Amino acid sequence: MDVAVIGCGYVGLVTATCLASIGHTVRGVEKDQRKLAKLREGHCPIFEPGLASLMQEQIAAGNLSFGDSVREAIQEAEVVFLAVGTPPKPDGTVDMSFLEAAGREVCDALADAPPDYLITIVIKSTVPAGTNRKLYYYLRQHSTIEFQVVSNPEFLKEGSAVNDFLEPDRIVIGGESPEAFRVMRRLYDPLITSEDVFLTMNWESAELTKYAANAMLAARISFMNEMSILCDAYGADIEDIRKGIGSDSRIGPAFLRAGVGFGGSCFPKDVAALQHISASVGHENLFVGAIQRINGEQKRRFVERISAKLGRPLKDATIAVWGLAFKADTDDIRESPAIDVIRYLLEGEARVRAHDYKAMENMKQIFGDQVEWVNDPVACAAGADAVAVLTDWPQYNTLPFRKVSATMNQPVIFDGRNCLQRDVMRENGFQYYPIGRPALESPLRLRNGYRVAAAEK
Ligand code: UDX
Repeated sequence: MDVAVIGCGYVGLVTATCLASIGHTVRGVEKDQRKLAKLREGHCPIFEPGLASLMQEQIAAGNLSFGDSVREAIQEAEVVFLAVGTPPKPDGTVDMSFLEAAGREVCDALADAPPDYLITIVIKSTVPAGTNRKLYYYLRQHSTIEFQVVSNPEFLKEGSAVNDFLEPDRIVIGGESPEAFRVMRRLYDPLITSEDVFLTMNWESAELTKYAANAMLAARISFMNEMSILCDAYGADIEDIRKGIGSDSRIGPAFLRAGVGFGGSCFPKDVAALQHISASVGHENLFVGAIQRINGEQKRRFVERISAKLGRPLKDATIAVWGLAFKADTDDIRESPAIDVIRYLLEGEARVRAHDYKAMENMKQIFGDQVEWVNDPVACAAGADAVAVLTDWPQYNTLPFRKVSATMNQPVIFDGRNCLQRDVMRENGFQYYPIGRPALESPLRLRNGYRVAAAEK
């Protein structure tokens, strides 16, 4: 099929590239000329494993091209994806102006199309319940062409977006006409391994499905973070509990890892949006409020624990932060827990050094020279009074911990992702504080004369 994708940001680019790879002819539209030039040369502007090579392959095969003209891109298109921004407005509602403008541009460009020409306009962006319907009626008012609007929320995880797209658990299609479902069924046919994967529903159900999915996943994490507090108090191990409940097929094992809190471009934003969606119908969503509160508290509690266990005032301490991205395998720092944790550490007048494998440049934009940026994690920890692990980069697990321990001012690690190995910590003489798991504590070998706080259990 001929497909156009308007907006080549993260979602648009993954969608365009993956649809090309399953046999469609895809034209991406990007108005930012610098970005467009890069795309045309086959440079992928975002870090997403597997995306750049797939993109280059599809450009070379002639299945994928980029331009800045909506008119040109949709000349033969049956389906147009709108993957433009839907930023929140200050009052919490969504700014629909980009969607409306893109939708109108599509309709205007098709003004001279033959009367039997039907275009399917697909909204990929996460939008509040009612948006697809609003857009439909808005476009009805402003155009004469035949079109249908489809809501097709994405469920891509950064770091595995290509796989998530090509091997979906489900494809959610919101629409109001059987013809819209038929077009989308044809579009996604190569990815539909069983009919259960292809779910059709009305616009509002599709829109709310996306929020419900992200809020449910965020809730699972927040629930485990609350449980981790009980684990610390009673001497239980959150990892054992995770396995204990995750093996119940009604619960399942995914998204039950306790940590310093969730971040990213989706969970915090979608949970907040669900709060507004609820409020706009006069309902205070208590559940969603709890998720937000727990996630905020988790970061504050992490820094309080550092302060309590450090054995010296924060203002006399140097803390090495390992990991700035909101999760491993990305340079994305949007709503990353590292932002709040570093802020609290700086408020406590600690000296902060930081390392990340990909996200350091992005974090520099926020903290500039308030933080010392160090390219090597071992050098980052040298001379520090504690390491705080905030992203679960697998590389942190294979560092030369003997050297780390020997060169720190005191060998203390606060593992906000429960990603280091306890045995390795013990063997190398660390005081080790994971989240919701028993700590490793022994008298500290101190260089500067401060004493460590009384041992935990
Ligand atoms: C998420 C959704 O998973 C995806 O379906 C949606 O389309 C976009 O939002 P993403 O933001 O890429 O994807 O990251 P994800 O892997 O879901 O992690 C989100 C955050 O939760 C990260 O900060 C991660 O560290 C944290 N997390 C995840 C936990 O703290 N514990 C877990 O068990 C899982």
